[in-house]
Amino acid sequence: MERYLNMAIKSVITEFPKIGTILNDYEIGCVTCSVGTCLLKDIIEIHNVPKHIEAEMMKKIEAVLNGEDASTTETKEDIGMQVQREIVYSEPIQKLVDEHTLIKRLLALVPDLCDRVNADLEGNREVVLQSVEFIKQFADKFHHAKEEDILFAYAKGNIDIINVMLEDHKKGRYYVKSVLLGLETGDAAYVSYSLKHYRELLTEHIKKEDEILYPWIEKGMTPEQIADLEVKFDETDLEFGSGFYDKWEGFVSGLEKKA
Ligand SMILES: [Fe+2]
Ligand SMILES: [Fe+2]
Repeated sequence: MERYLNMAIKSVITEFPKIGTILNDYEIGCVTCSVGTCLLKDIIEIHNVPKHIEAEMMKKIEAVLNGEDASTTETKEDIGMQVQREIVYSEPIQKLVDEHTLIKRLLALVPDLCDRVNADLEGNREVVLQSVEFIKQFADKFHHAKEEDILFAYAKGNIDIINVMLEDHKKGRYYVKSVLLGLETGDAAYVSYSLKHYRELLTEHIKKEDEILYPWIEKGMTPEQIADLEVKFDETDLEFGSGFYDKWEGFVSGLEKKA
């Protein structure tokens, strides 16, 4: 068991695919993670599964490692109900979660935007450019910069999970470039393909941050560090100007009304 706890999760799942299924049942999505270098023991810690449920999950994992039958009559839904937990964030972290809410409102409009682009690229060129500007300015320059330059420095112990997040940010920038390339070449299918992939990536990314990364980083922070974080976030907000958030919220609201 010890040996597997210290092994990268992708290798564990390759050797024992059933462990991927067990983790997935407990809402731990390692199978779909593109990096997979986190150690099994870190994954269990990071996901902050309630103790009694963690014990039950570990029993199943151990059974698989020992070549025993770990199947039960419980469905994924039964387990999901037990794992669900309400997360209470500190004020500065809540600010990031609220920023996610605005990003998710834009992401919700992407399928409709893709349909419109496929029907008429030229007629929707401007709205795509504005949406890309929202992604660049609000999601990346403002929100991701707060994470990369400030929050991630407080993460102790497991660098792999931070690397997963940074990798997602990089991929997002790649999809944004692809959208612009599609516009440049007049390729509607490529624009909508890139927008769709950006939406999928960011939806998963935000879920990982809200449910796993933020609670985990916060758990390792002292009250003084949380207070420092708040000061630093306020400084960033000030740097971007008091009307910055309202301007982009207004943009998303406008799009929602037209949808
Ligand atoms: Fe992020
Ligand atoms: Fe984020």
